[in-house]
Amino acid sequence: MNNAAPLSSGDYADAVATATRAAAAYYADGTTTLGDDEYDALVRAIAAYEQAHPEEMSEQSPTGKVAGGAAEGDVPHSVPMLSLDNVFSGEELADWAASLERRLGRAPAGWCVEPKLDGLAVAARYEAGALRQVLTRGNGLAGEDITHTAGDVLGLPAVLAEPVDVELRGEVLLTHAQFELANEIRTAHGAVPFANPRNGAAGTLRAKDRPYRIELTFFAYDAVGLGGADGALAHSALLERLAALGANTAAATAAAPQRCESVAEVQRRVEEIAGMRAALPFGIDGVVVKADDAADQAQAGSGSRAPRWAVARKLAAEHKVTRLLAVEWAVGRTGVIAPRAVLEPVVIDGVTVSFATLHNPADIERRGLMLGDRVFVYRAGDVIPRVEAPLVEERTGAEQPIVFPSACPRCGEAIDTGEQRWRCVRGRNCQAVASIIYAAGRDQLDIEGLGSTRAVQLVEAGLVRDLADVFTLTREQLLSLERMGATSTDNLLAAVETARSRPLNRVLCALGVRGTGRSMSRRIAAHFGSMAAIRAADAETLAAVEGIGPEKARLVVSELAELTDLLDRLAALGVGTQVTAPTAPAPVPTAEPAEGAEPPAGGPLTGEAVVVTGSMSGPLAALSRNEMNELIERAGGKASSSVSKRTTLLVAGEKAGSKRAKAEELGIRVLDPEQFAALLADHLPVAA
Ligand code: IVH
Repeated sequence: MNNAAPLSSGDYADAVATATRAAAAYYADGTTTLGDDEYDALVRAIAAYEQAHPEEMSEQSPTGKVAGGAAEGDVPHSVPMLSLDNVFSGEELADWAASLERRLGRAPAGWCVEPKLDGLAVAARYEAGALRQVLTRGNGLAGEDITHTAGDVLGLPAVLAEPVDVELRGEVLLTHAQFELANEIRTAHGAVPFANPRNGAAGTLRAKDRPYRIELTFFAYDAVGLGGADGALAHSALLERLAALGANTAAATAAAPQRCESVAEVQRRVEEIAGMRAALPFGIDGVVVKADDAADQAQAGSGSRAPRWAVARKLAAEHKVTRLLAVEWAVGRTGVIAPRAVLEPVVIDGVTVSFATLHNPADIERRGLMLGDRVFVYRAGDVIPRVEAPLVEERTGAEQPIVFPSACPRCGEAIDTGEQRWRCVRGRNCQAVASIIYAAGRDQLDIEGLGSTRAVQLVEAGLVRDLADVFTLTREQLLSLERMGATSTDNLLAAVETARSRPLNRVLCALGVRGTGRSMSRRIAAHFGSMAAIRAADAETLAAVEGIGPEKARLVVSELAELTDLLDRLAALGVGTQVTAPTAPAPVPTAEPAEGAEPPAGGPLTGEAVVVTGSMSGPLAALSRNEMNELIERAGGKASSSVSKRTTLLVAGEKAGSKRAKAEELGIRVLDPEQFAALLADHLPVAA
C-alpha cells in the first residue's frame, strides 16, 4: 500500500495537479478529495519521480512546499509553522533515526515520543499571559485569524498561569465525545452532520455566525518564545512548562509524551501508542518522534517544509473513501429492520471492508446519502465499520436515491416507523423461524433435532408460530411432516420434554428479550428465582440486578410485557416454572460491577472471579462457554469474559492466547481444564 507505483512523465503532471487540489481543499476547509493514505501514496510517487528526474520538477509540486497548497489567511506567522516528514513502518523509522544520527555525528541525547493528534494546527499568541490572537496554520507562512473561536476551545486558557509573552502551538480537534455531541447539535439545527472529527474541527474553526456553538479541544505540543529548538529547553521539558502554564497537553492522556533513551525504546513506545489508538478518546493519525534535546534540534535544523529532528510515524487511516453500491435491509430476530451499506471493498487498517452499518433510516436521511456516492467509511479497532458521510462535491449526477422499504422485507407486513429503528409490526413473530432456532440453541433450551431445517418446516406447516407451540407438538403432527420418521419424531419429542424442565435462566435467555444475553439472563434468574417474580418486577426492581441500568431495565420490562401471552402459555405448559431461592433483595453493590450472577455461598469457588479461555478438554470438553459459566456460578464463583486485576483464576485450555499472557503478567492463578475439573468434581454435570 505504501509502495507507490512509479509514475510516467504524463502521470507526474496529473499527480501533482491531483495532490495540489486535495491539499488545497484539506488546508482550506478540512474537506478532502482523497483519503489520507491515498494522498500520502501520491506524494511519495511524486517524490520518487522527482528524485529520478530532478530537471522536470514542477513548481506546483507538493513536495517542496511548507504546507502544500493554497489556503486562505493573511496573518504572517512569527516563524513558519512547519509540517512533518512521514515514515510508514518501523524500518523506515529506524532508517530515519540512523540518518539523523549520521547528521549529528552521534546519537541524539534522547527522544520524545508522542501522539500525532488528528486535528488542525493553530498558533495562539499570548501577551503578558493573556490570549490575544489565534491563527490557523494556513500555508505555514501565514494563517487566518480565528480568534473568535477561542472561547469554544477547551485547553486554550484565556489567561495563562504566568504573565508571559508566548505563542503556543498545537492541535485543535474534536474528541470522539465532542464529535458525537457536535453532530447531535448540528442535526437539531437542520445542518448536515460532520463527516468525521477532523472535518468537523476544520469547519468549526473557520465558521462564523453559526446559531450554535461547538466545543473543541486544544493540545499544545510546541511554543515560540519559551526555548525549544533555539532555546534551552528540551522538548519534554517544554511540554511540562506548557502544562504548568495552564495549556492542555497530551500528558494527561494514556498516550502521554514519553522521553526515550534509545531507538529500541522509541519503537516500543510507538507500538504502545499505536496499540491504544482505538481506546483513546480522540483520533490520532500517527506517532511523532522528536529528538528531545534543544542542542540536537538546533544542530539538525529544519528544511523548508519540515524539521530534520522530528518525524511522523504514520498509522493507517481509519477513515477511508469508497463507493456506496447498495443498501440492504435485514430483519433481525426481534423484527428490527436495519439498513446495511454494501461498499466497493476498501482496505482499512489491513482489513477489507465490504459492508458497513448505516444505523437507521433517519440516519441515512440526516447524512443525505445516495446510491453511487463516494463515502467516508470509518473503522477503528474491532468496531463495526460505519458509513459517515458522502463526498457531495464529487457527485456526477448519476447517483440514485436510496429506496426505503415500504413493507417488511421478510414477511411483507407493515413497518412500524414510529421510532428511529424501524420494526416489522409483527415484531419477533416476523422472525418466528429465527426465534425458534435461537430458543432451541445449545445455550438456551438445547433442543436437539430442532435446527433450522426443522424449524422452517414446522413454521411453514403452520404447526408452530412461537416457542410455546413447540411444547404442544404431538406425535401425529410430527409424523405427518415430510422426512419425519418414527425415530426422529420420538427423539424430537424426548428432546422437547427435556427442554420443558430447563432452568429459569435458560428459558429467559430463550425468549430473546432484547438486552438479555446469556450472562444477563443468568443474573436476572438468580436474582429473582422465578419467572413470576421476574414478570412482576418493575424497572426499578429490575435495575437492582448487577449490570442493569435504568434504561435497560425499562427495555426489559416493556419487552416482557409484550411477551405476556407467550409467557402465560409457556407457564401453562410447565416451561420455566421452576423456582429457586432468589438472591434478591440483594444489597446494592458497592464494588465495581462484575459479570456473572450473584453466587451461592459456600461452593469451592466462593470469592473467586474466574475467566475461561482456550478450548476445554477432559471432563469439560463438551461444555460450551455458557455451560462453563453456569458451572462456575453453581460452584459459588463469578464468571467473567475478560481478565482484569479483579480476576483471581484463569482456566486456560489449549490455544489460550492473550488472556493467558495477561493473567500471567498480573500473577493470576492459572489452571488447566483437568485441574479445574478436579476442583469442581462435585459440581460437574453428570455425563449422559
Ligand atoms: S510537531 C516543527 N507534534 O501534524 C514541529 N505536530 O503532519 C511541527 N501534529 O502540522 C509539528 N500532532 O498539525 C507535532 N505531537 C505533534 C503533533 C503534530 C499532530 C500535526 C501538526 C503538523 C502535522 C504534520
